Amino acid sequence: MTIDETPKGSAHEIERYSGLFARRSQGMRSSAMRDMMAITARPEVISLATGLPDTTTFPAEDFAALMTRVAVDSTATALQYGPTEGQDDVRRAIVQVMAAEGMAVEEEDLIVTTGGQQVIDLVCRTFVDPGDVVVAEGPTYPGAVPCFSSFQADVVQVEMDDDGMSIDVLAETLERLRAENRRPKFIYTIPSFQNPAGVTMSLERRRALVRIAHEQELVILEDNPYGLLRYEGDPLPTLRSLDGGRYVVYLGTFSKILSAGLRLGWAAAPRPILEKLNLGKQAADLCSSALTQHFVAAYFDQRDWRAYLDKLRALYRRRRDVMLEALEEHLPAEATWTRPRGGLFIWAKLPDYIDTTDLLARALRENVAFVPGRAAYLDGRGGSEMRLNFSGVSDDDIREGVRRIGKVVSEQVALYGTLTGLKPAARPAPEAQVLPLRRREAS
Ligand SMILES: Cc1ncc(COP(=O)(O)O)c(C=O)c1O
Repeated sequence: MTIDETPKGSAHEIERYSGLFARRSQGMRSSAMRDMMAITARPEVISLATGLPDTTTFPAEDFAALMTRVAVDSTATALQYGPTEGQDDVRRAIVQVMAAEGMAVEEEDLIVTTGGQQVIDLVCRTFVDPGDVVVAEGPTYPGAVPCFSSFQADVVQVEMDDDGMSIDVLAETLERLRAENRRPKFIYTIPSFQNPAGVTMSLERRRALVRIAHEQELVILEDNPYGLLRYEGDPLPTLRSLDGGRYVVYLGTFSKILSAGLRLGWAAAPRPILEKLNLGKQAADLCSSALTQHFVAAYFDQRDWRAYLDKLRALYRRRRDVMLEALEEHLPAEATWTRPRGGLFIWAKLPDYIDTTDLLARALRENVAFVPGRAAYLDGRGGSEMRLNFSGVSDDDIREGVRRIGKVVSEQVALYGTLTGLKPAARPAPEAQVLPLRRREAS
């Protein structure tokens, strides 16, 4: 028998396996952000693309001391499998974090997961058969898109404005779906400092959304990685606290308040749902890392997690302001963008004639990256929009990155002007620059 020397990944090799792949795998698509991590890892590239928390802010000596303590006190358990639902001491820490956002939760209502990302996967695994409807915001978290796709969900995206998801449009959408006899499996929302749009759902809309869920017995998946990263204004109640834990599956994570490398998040859910999530997790990975759970437990026991959060808030607030100022200076008058009161992202909208996927190729030649808007939609929308991250980059890199983006955008605007004979627009007053997210036409 001869050894097949066809290069790996060749068309021939793909063909060899394709007849074996599950139908589900046809829907699988790569996450735009994951793809970009390879490009943006190049040191010369300023990445405003990935939503990285700034882990350089975590004191090395604290990390060393806590890890040493774990190693000395808990070698055997830290190196062992743990319970699927997570360690008790970690769930006690989660109770504290949720209390800081006004939620009273019992340890038994929680499951520790491998990042918040796993909650999205487990919720899809639990609820979604191929073709089932999931309602999400438009734009939605780009990392949820591959998950919805791989479960072959039919995702209906409801547009937002500065107050988050439009509840009127949601109500119309639900009405239309009801007429088609299609009950959504869940409504996926990131109410606070939304990724990618940066907007926050108003209190009135939060109440209305929970009311709709109760009236129509619909499950809401509330994804809240950023609620504690508030830079101004008063905190708003989470959907879970308004709902009382009846219809809301709540997703939290340590990624943005402590470390993404721990890969630890959680879900708080009504018990029947929690049991299914637990069964799904048993099949997926048995349990989340005992080693990093020990680190979290030691951290909450030995350090002031709120003080670190204050430090992050101050840093990200400043970087947000630097980015807003740079956008003002470098983007042409035709562009608009959101002014987030927290979180990690700004969403910018360019003139319709600019395609941000094409623009990214030009931007990369200038060694700067952003996430093109289409990554946040499942229906091809978002072509002239982009997500910009300000948390993981220094002030200077934010200024320089935005300058480079401004350069490529301005070139496109000038080219369009030359081709059409139209003059570039004058810059509107700053208050008029808040992104007027278009409303979806009722269909
Ligand atoms: C809205 C949202 N949900 C979930 C996640 C997943 O985060 P992790 O798996 O690191 O907890 C992220 C990460 O950026 C996010 O922005």
